[in-house]
Amino acid sequence: MADPVLKWAGGKRQILQRIREHFRRAEDIEGYHEPFVGGGAVFFREGHEYGGGTINDINVRLVNFYRVLKNDTEGLLDEFSLLRERKPDDEPNSALDYDQVDQHDREIDNYYYQVRAIFNKRPNGEEFDEVREAAIMLWLNRTCFNGLYRENRSGEFNVPIGSHKNLGLDMDAKIQQAADALKSADVDIKNEDFGYVEDYAEPGDLVYFDPPYDPNSASSSFVEYTSESFGKDEQRRLKELAVDLDAKGVDVVISNAPSVTDLYEEEEVAKYFDHSKVGARRAINSDGDSRGEVNEVIITNIDEEDRRHAHPNLSDYP
Ligand SMILES: C[S@@+](CC[C@H](N)C(=O)[O-])C[C@H]1O[C@@H](n2cnc3c(N)ncnc32)[C@H](O)[C@@H]1O
Repeated sequence: MADPVLKWAGGKRQILQRIREHFRRAEDIEGYHEPFVGGGAVFFREGHEYGGGTINDINVRLVNFYRVLKNDTEGLLDEFSLLRERKPDDEPNSALDYDQVDQHDREIDNYYYQVRAIFNKRPNGEEFDEVREAAIMLWLNRTCFNGLYRENRSGEFNVPIGSHKNLGLDMDAKIQQAADALKSADVDIKNEDFGYVEDYAEPGDLVYFDPPYDPNSASSSFVEYTSESFGKDEQRRLKELAVDLDAKGVDVVISNAPSVTDLYEEEEVAKYFDHSKVGARRAINSDGDSRGEVNEVIITNIDEEDRRHAHPNLSDYP
């Protein structure tokens, strides 16, 4: 078991237990797939404990981060500590060789915006250093406002500086634990549209979908994880995929905004899918001003008697 290392809008920590109650018991899950992995609250909590599978996200930088976390944990820790150790009064860290960092500007705010500009430049080809990008992503994620990842229409990370309180020294241990979780399972880290999972999920596997919220929902500001948008057509495509996976004998659990439930109430779907509402308090919002109760729905094709909450025994949980 590990914790997510990146804070991610739509993170599922608060309703984690409610989501997991809808799963089968651990010993009945043969493989695990999470096509909208984001911060990976469910994957790091338990998804990595099954017999392999996939995690995926359309966000290219997020996927680079997970690949580096898995394949070069030491390199990531080293780069991250270089960024973290820089104090407002330091010279720009020569080891980072950040040409763009203004030698004369020693204020931490400027350091933040300069690092952010470097991140957004994202050099291609030989210039691209995936370990550095992963470390910067983590550092920005822990120092930006509300720990929120958001891109503008040109695909640039545009969140302003936040407090530095999040840069706890326990980060290295957390990073190591998350890396161990990624290494412990035969998990493929993919960077595709969620539709890939149709070819990967086998009967007996569990697919947990946590898509961006429907743009018509009250919490539509949560859809801005990338410059791509996720609208009604995508929600419909997701429903069709869920139906196909069901026909293949794959377990499906989806968390979503209540506004999509009508899709799952359509006749041919309602036969196989069931939904329940859950409340979640949102700590992250792109405006930071509405932190109220947000209802979510959990949709699943797993029969009620096969779900963990039908067996309220803690040993059912990994
Ligand atoms: C609600 S977030 C997932 C949050 C995650 N469960 C967590 O605990 O942090 C949705 C994710 O879907 C990704 N995404 C958006 N459109 C996608 C698509 N078409 N295919 C795959 N991933 C997509 C976004 O980049 C975002 O990371």
